[in-house]
Amino acid sequence: MKKAFVKSYGCQMNAYDAARMADVLGKEGYAATERVEEADVVILNTCHIREKAAEKVYSELGRLRVLKGERQAEGRDTRIVVAGCVAQAEGAEILSRAPAVDVVVGPQSYHRLPDLLARSRETRVVDTDFPADDKFDHLPARRNRGVSAFLTVQEGCDKFCSFCVVPYTRGAEVSRSVPAILTEARALAEGGVRELTLIGQNVNAYHGPAEAGGTASLADLMRAVAAIPGIARIRYTTSHPNDMGEDLIQAHAELPALMPYLHLPVQSGSDRILAAMNRRHTADAYRRLIDRLRGARPDLALSSDFIVGFPGETDADFEGTMRLVAEIGFESAFSFKYSPRPGTPAAEREDAVPEDVKSARLSALQAALDRRRHAYQEEAVGQVTEILVEKAGRHPGQVAGKTPHMLAVQVDAPASTIGGLLPVRIVEAGTNSLFGQTLTSTAAAA
Ligand code: SAH
Ligand code: SF4
Ligand code: F3S
Repeated sequence: MKKAFVKSYGCQMNAYDAARMADVLGKEGYAATERVEEADVVILNTCHIREKAAEKVYSELGRLRVLKGERQAEGRDTRIVVAGCVAQAEGAEILSRAPAVDVVVGPQSYHRLPDLLARSRETRVVDTDFPADDKFDHLPARRNRGVSAFLTVQEGCDKFCSFCVVPYTRGAEVSRSVPAILTEARALAEGGVRELTLIGQNVNAYHGPAEAGGTASLADLMRAVAAIPGIARIRYTTSHPNDMGEDLIQAHAELPALMPYLHLPVQSGSDRILAAMNRRHTADAYRRLIDRLRGARPDLALSSDFIVGFPGETDADFEGTMRLVAEIGFESAFSFKYSPRPGTPAAEREDAVPEDVKSARLSALQAALDRRRHAYQEEAVGQVTEILVEKAGRHPGQVAGKTPHMLAVQVDAPASTIGGLLPVRIVEAGTNSLFGQTLTSTAAAA
């Protein structure tokens, strides 16, 4: 049987695309493999968001060139595909930089993979169109993805933050229709999925065609998804503060399946930097928004992304970020050093922050975020909560799951609990996860 190796380098949407590409090849008779040496097709689903992520691809392609040569010497063919956001951004340039590559395919045209692979036997091919036909209409049905699954509901971004490549690599904001999403969600639920995370580059800007005509908001969509039998939990990511509408805030108060955890990137706590980033809101507007969200759902856990060392960022600007972090209390967060990206307005600026200053700020920020995260974990000890059991745990006899607040918990319980909601008491906080005890010995799959 032919084998395909697919690797994702990027965000959740990129991981979702990678899974669907594996399904496309599955339909063509390729079995998935985790061992690149035995793969007849290798797909690197790339990310362009920061320089490091993009450069990783070229070093990987260097290694693949050697592997391809070795396999060729044994009479075996290897097709090498570069997909994702680097493919979209760099297109044909990849062919000249990486001679081993056979196919370059962008995030909107990977449903054409079988055809592109066939054509690549004649000539190297590049497909970075934003085609008029919707890739989702051409993809095979998804295979079972376990207990918790991602579902892309919206793609692209019209925000044009001055540092970000996404509007260029993923194109304009597009929402899938409610019926198409519900069909996919129902199939996932029938396959055993209990938790759905609705994903999009700007998911809370969702405005898709509704079942009964008109336009559905993300809150409308989530109410419809919550009604699907089997779906116990809903999450969504990633959101922009300016698209947090009143109905979405209310959904956090009213929709029991919507989990009390929100990833709402703020990037910086300085108004001057936020303006230069083209975020179009102030730090205080973000604080007020968090107040409203906590008004709707007092136990809401928050997460964010931060960029340190944006061009022109002073010590005072950075202190603004540290103040915001201290005030809000994020349960978790991602933080990055600013990376100038080709084609973005911020990359043109000449007031770059020196690398050592960026590093020092990143360390200080991460230390503060880590302290808060640990405190959050410690506070959880003693609490009674419910976990969705997702998989076998680290040790025999254990299972692993997540609390509504996304905390990872290990519990001594049989594998038969996987896929169920299990009431637990948190008894201990480890470095990366919590340990819990089941509250009822009979708590089987709900
Ligand atoms: N759509 C999401 C995030 C997309 S990218 C949003 O708007 O929040 C994920 C994160 O990568 C961003 O939130 C940002 O913190 C970071 N990022 C994006 N471009 C970057 C750059 N040029 N340098 C450093 N970090 C960047
Ligand atoms: Fe990038 Fe900003 Fe769009 Fe997020 S909202 S994807 S950071 S341009
Ligand atoms: Fe990266 Fe593209 Fe996602 S640039 S973060 S893979 S949208």
